[in-house]
Amino acid sequence: MLIKRRRAWEIPEHLATPESVFLSRRALLGGAAGLAAGSLVAPRALLAAEGGLYPAPRNPAYTLDRAVTPERFSGDYNNFYEFGTSKSVLPAANALKTSPWTVKIDGLVEKPFEIGVEDLIRKVGLEERLYRHRCVEAWSMAVPWTGFPLSKLVALAKPAAGAQYVQFQTFLDKSMAPGQRSFFYPWPYLEGLTMAEAGNDLAFLVTGVYGKPLPNQFGAPIRLAVPWKYGFKSIKSIVKVSFTAERPKTFWEGLQAAEYGFWANVNPAVPHPRWSQATERVLGTNERVPTLIYNGYGDQVADLYKGLEKERLFV
Ligand code: MTE
Repeated sequence: MLIKRRRAWEIPEHLATPESVFLSRRALLGGAAGLAAGSLVAPRALLAAEGGLYPAPRNPAYTLDRAVTPERFSGDYNNFYEFGTSKSVLPAANALKTSPWTVKIDGLVEKPFEIGVEDLIRKVGLEERLYRHRCVEAWSMAVPWTGFPLSKLVALAKPAAGAQYVQFQTFLDKSMAPGQRSFFYPWPYLEGLTMAEAGNDLAFLVTGVYGKPLPNQFGAPIRLAVPWKYGFKSIKSIVKVSFTAERPKTFWEGLQAAEYGFWANVNPAVPHPRWSQATERVLGTNERVPTLIYNGYGDQVADLYKGLEKERLFV
């Protein structure tokens, strides 16, 4: 995702780093972070876990074709540009103040409102789902997310007939998030789905992972998981959900529309302009496995795109 105004012949770091170097660097970073933090979970998260919400019952309808990625890998290899462009944002993300946290619902809805994350959770209930996650940079993981279907929030919002898109916005606070001091990026991070995508059962709002509240670097206290799309669609630390008639101009689309479009559905046959999407590197094992159309969720989502074949559905 790093946009350094690279020339076409330059390849990104993740393709250039030999795996042995990559692995030993990760082992070192993982060890250092473990010692510093003792755990990958922030203290607030541990308190909330004591409230009895976690672990939530697992929904058996969501299974994996691969092993769950151990947290020591997925929890220390993150994209969270608000806290820097390094994958090891864990220490920096500790500065994220996640409580109190409210989410504003506005735009084309019956009546705009704001709701605290904990109130929201108590209204809708939580479940655990095993999901794959495929980053546009060609790495992947499989994680047990805890959360609730996005459709439950849509129902609470009572959108008006004219609403065609759901737009999500991340917090904006330069004092907390050093990455937001960079003028290069069009902060705040913004993402969007069509109403049909938001109503698909796979679209999931996440408040926890590995049976406990979401550690900051994963996008606490509430983020999206849309596993059939490239990972950048799964926006973190959401403060606002707006219902709109116009298609949102998303963060990465605003930066580099030719590389990171609105739809961004996973497709191994459509390469990124600068690298292949045919395979992915699995976090933890570093094994390369074939990437699947819609990241393996075609049965559940392919119908969403009937009649939209003229759109750039896979970029
Ligand atoms: N959301 C915000 N607000 N900021 C980000 O930088 N990165 C995206 C997505 N959501 C990002 C974000 C990208 S590129 C990916 S791949 C996933 O978060 C990474 O999620 P993970 O760190 O939990 O693996």
